Amino acid sequence: MYLKLSHLCWVIYLVTLSDAMTLGDQIKEAFAEFVLDTESFLQLDEHGKVVNCGPSNMSLTWTPKTINSKGTLTIDGYAQFPAEFQTGTILMDVKYKIFHRTMKFQVTCSMMQTYGIPVQCPVKQGQTVKGQFTIKDLSALSSIHGSIEVKILLYNNSGTQLFCGIVIADVN
Ligand SMILES: *[C@@H]1O[C@H](CO)[C@@H](O)[C@H](O)[C@H]1NC(C)=O
Ligand SMILES: *[C@@H]1O[C@H](CO)[C@@H](O)[C@H](O)[C@H]1NC(C)=O
Repeated sequence: MYLKLSHLCWVIYLVTLSDAMTLGDQIKEAFAEFVLDTESFLQLDEHGKVVNCGPSNMSLTWTPKTINSKGTLTIDGYAQFPAEFQTGTILMDVKYKIFHRTMKFQVTCSMMQTYGIPVQCPVKQGQTVKGQFTIKDLSALSSIHGSIEVKILLYNNSGTQLFCGIVIADVN
C-alpha cells in the first residue's frame, strides 16, 4: 500500500469542507482517489527487480510485479556465472508472514535447461546467461497470499557461491 500524505489531506479536506455528503460517502470518495492513484503507480512500475546479494554480475527483473499463482512469471535480464558449474546446490530461504524456512535442492546445469533457462552446459567461468524465460506453473504458490521474501543461493559442487538473489514480491 502506498499511502501518501496527500491522501490523508484529501480525507481531512473532504471531512471538514463538505457538509452535503455523509461521512461514509466522503471516506468512500477519498479512498476511490487512493485506489486510482495506486493503480497508475503500479502501471508505471510494473516489474519487480531481483536484489543482488552475491558475486554474480546480474540484473534480473520479473513481470507481472504482483505474482499470481494461477498465472505465469517472466524473468528477464542477465546473470554471469563467476565460476564453473555443472552440478551444485540451491538454497532457498523463504520468509512468509511468521514462517521462515530454508530449503535445499540438488541442481544440475541440464535441469536448468529443462526449466527453460538459456544456459550452456557445462557452465564455464564467465558465461553470461541472458534473455527471458517464463515459469509456466506457479501452483506451488497457491497457498501464499501476501508479501513473500525469497533468497536464492546457488553453489557449485566445490561450495563456491555463484549466485545470490533476493526476491521480495506480493503474491495473490
Ligand atoms: C556485466 O554484464 C553485462 C551484460 O553481459 C556487461 O555489459 C557488463 O560489462 C558486465 N559488467 C562487468 C563489471 O563485468
Ligand atoms: C567451483 O568453482 C571453483 C571456482 O571457480 C572452481 O575452482 C571449482 O572447480 C568449481 N567446482 C566445480 C565442481 O565445478
